Amino acid sequence: MKVLVIGGGGREHALAWALKKSARVSEVVCMPGNAGIAELARCVPVAVTDLEGTLALVEREQPGLVVIGPEVPLALGVVDLLEKRGVRVFGPTADAAQLESSKAFAKEFMRRFDIPTAAYAVCRSVADVEHELKDFASQVVVKADGLAAGKGVVMCESHRETLEAAGQMFDGVVTGEPIGQLVIEETLVGPEISFFAVCDGTHAATLGVAQDHKRVGEGDTGPNTGGMGAYSTDSLVTPDMIEWLRVNVAQKVVDGMRSEGMPFVGVLFCGMMLTPDGPKVLEFNTRFGDPETQALMLRLETDLLTVFEAAIDGRIDSLPIRMKRGASVCVIAASGGYPGSYTSGKAITGVPVPSSDEVVFHSGTAIKDGQLVTAGGRVLAVTAAAATLEDALHKAYGALAGIRFEGMQYRRDIAWRALKN
Ligand code: AMP
Ligand code: GLY
Repeated sequence: MKVLVIGGGGREHALAWALKKSARVSEVVCMPGNAGIAELARCVPVAVTDLEGTLALVEREQPGLVVIGPEVPLALGVVDLLEKRGVRVFGPTADAAQLESSKAFAKEFMRRFDIPTAAYAVCRSVADVEHELKDFASQVVVKADGLAAGKGVVMCESHRETLEAAGQMFDGVVTGEPIGQLVIEETLVGPEISFFAVCDGTHAATLGVAQDHKRVGEGDTGPNTGGMGAYSTDSLVTPDMIEWLRVNVAQKVVDGMRSEGMPFVGVLFCGMMLTPDGPKVLEFNTRFGDPETQALMLRLETDLLTVFEAAIDGRIDSLPIRMKRGASVCVIAASGGYPGSYTSGKAITGVPVPSSDEVVFHSGTAIKDGQLVTAGGRVLAVTAAAATLEDALHKAYGALAGIRFEGMQYRRDIAWRALKN
């Protein structure tokens, strides 16, 4: 079968890599892809936001399956568009993707279906915020409604800061565009984990759990990024906790969305905080995480094509999804200056050849005059799996030591929380 993967980052490289291992996948086409993906897939330069271009490509290529990586085409309705034409697609419709594309929708949905999350209020003006703040402690999180590529969340220490942040969001200073509504919510504390469920509209099945590292600096300091590294181990959370999250979060979402006429098919990424009062949802994403997916794909034993097909056909409950025992890690090598401004086009050398348990996935790379060069903030996702976390880290950092590009930065402390325990 020919499979079309939409997207062009490390997540899509990992998905294409896992799909390519399937005996039933004859070819992977990627739109738009990147220099690393081009080593195993045919890349076609169409932007993920170009729905007409996507449709034309699908009509030309006739893939047996389309897999959507990023959130933006989901929110634009690429799944609705393709399904209407009878194409088999793995991903949620625009309605179902509101769980990610609207924070207000997600919070109100969680309230309706009694899914544990931080106390909140939806506000449409600064006056609204001022009124609602009476019910909140001094530390408040302000979240822009709508997709904001990680820029839409501000943590505030006082009500004065909250009002300022809210004002700037309504004015468009924070996300680049004025917003109509935002969510204020109570600040939660505890370790964060990313829980991934594959959903078929009726059932939620556990794919795996990973921990991301959102801050740019070691010890979780400095500004937020798209994610500087991730790891996944057998003992990150207990099997009981994983089942609790599946039943009390993911399955409740699937049941709720189905009952409201928006069946959820795709990956539900539950960003959870394990608070002293129990696990609470920080956010939903309606797609795979980046860089969590790179770590998870190295451990996935079950054929990924079979997983996607079971979800589309409504029988994910009958498919055991198996992970290799042990651990995996993914360390991001980023451009100097990221997540602020940086320059691209730097020559990259020393990328090792991939093996079954060590792969350098490409996040932002291109080929210029025959040379591999940087083409983004996050450049490479150096990923390794092993029987123990220590061995996986040793492999990943060993591979990183040989890679060079001008300005390269990476965190040397990926998985530090697990090592500390
Ligand atoms: P979100 O995009 O909603 O996941 O927010 C991005 C990051 O902000 C999360 O990964 C958390 O680290 C932090 N965050 C979001 N909501 C809260 C909250 N209610 N309490 C504490 N931290 C939060
Ligand atoms: N790793 C966080 C995200 O993909 O949004």
